[in-house]
Amino acid sequence: MSTYLVTGGAGFIGSHLCDALIASGDTVRVLDDLSTGLRSNLPPAATLIQGDVADPAAVAAAIAGVDGCFHLAAIASVEKGVTDWLGTHHANLTGTITLFDAIRRQDRPIPVVYASSAAVYGDAAHVPIAETDPCRPLSAYGADKYGCELHARVASHVHRIPTVGLRFFNVYGPRQDPKSPYSGVISIFCQRIAAAGSLKIFGDGQQTRDFIYVADVVRALLAAMALRPADAPVFNVCTGTATSVEALARLIADLTGHSLDVETAPPRAAEIRHSVGAPNLANSILGLPQRVKLRTGLADVLAWINGSAA
Ligand code: NAD
Ligand code: UD1
Repeated sequence: MSTYLVTGGAGFIGSHLCDALIASGDTVRVLDDLSTGLRSNLPPAATLIQGDVADPAAVAAAIAGVDGCFHLAAIASVEKGVTDWLGTHHANLTGTITLFDAIRRQDRPIPVVYASSAAVYGDAAHVPIAETDPCRPLSAYGADKYGCELHARVASHVHRIPTVGLRFFNVYGPRQDPKSPYSGVISIFCQRIAAAGSLKIFGDGQQTRDFIYVADVVRALLAAMALRPADAPVFNVCTGTATSVEALARLIADLTGHSLDVETAPPRAAEIRHSVGAPNLANSILGLPQRVKLRTGLADVLAWINGSAA
């Protein structure tokens, strides 16, 4: 049994990870400022330290005695990075360096698995995108996530901290807040369609994304913690399947039996046209070849939305 720190553990992905760690008998400490996360997402056995991941004193207290750290705390919105460039930079990159800096002051190496993003690639020349393809982020969010990867290399090569970066593509599942304007498209569309409301599609709806179910992401996080590598690797966490925003809306309408009511709006700023990853490296090194099918995962989200509304 081990003790883990999960930064951002009260959020969507982090809370599913906390559930899995506690189910395997591990002890879980969470550092979260509850800016988007909810205390109610956390399993009762997790200990919450409410604080900012960019606050050195809060981070030093949170890492004391842990065996490993999952670093998920971030402002996880491309759009928020457009309007609050400096504020998101503080959480997304300064927070990550603060964590590495606190860990290098410990007398033993604490392995870190951290959330990067497909946003590091920017508009890729082709899809599916492999880890070896160039990183040319278009958004402040993507630039900061790429910065996290570069500083993870420093943490590894200069300070001997084992790190693994996971480039999550578009993660979806229960607990992704459908009410936030910065939430993921699947939670927004499921909530609107289930309530027989209208959807807004930005641009022509032909932009594509690689939607990965949260349980698959949790499996990748756990497998990455077991690696403890010396060379700061990064892995795509994706399915390799492209779904357009328009096709997604149709699929959800089909699953709910509701008809679609769509408004169109101009494309969003810093928007990527096609984002689909090659999962081969994660499949072979993390050993995770199976993925939950989109239809199955969407049914879980709809069941969760119906349950929350009840
Ligand atoms: P989320 O907003 O649900 O979770 C982020 C958590 O971090 C929240 O609980 C929030 O309160 C906390 N947080 C934010 N700023 C903080 C700060 N300064 N100090 C302490 N806590 C802070 O988002 P999520 O979707 O669960 O994302 C988790 C991680 O995965 C993030 O790093 C995000 O960038 C990354 N990611 C998510 C996706 C996705 O599709 N959801 C895709 C790629 C990468
Ligand atoms: C998402 C993640 C980001 C992650 C990135 C990885 C969220 C909130 N953001 O960004 O953390 O790093 O993937 O590539 O999960 N759309 C609509 N109508 C809506 C909402 C969205 O048409 O009401 C469209 C968007 O314009 C976009 C697509 O749906 O083309 C996906 O949007 P969104 O879910 O916000 O995610 P990304 O911007 O891809």
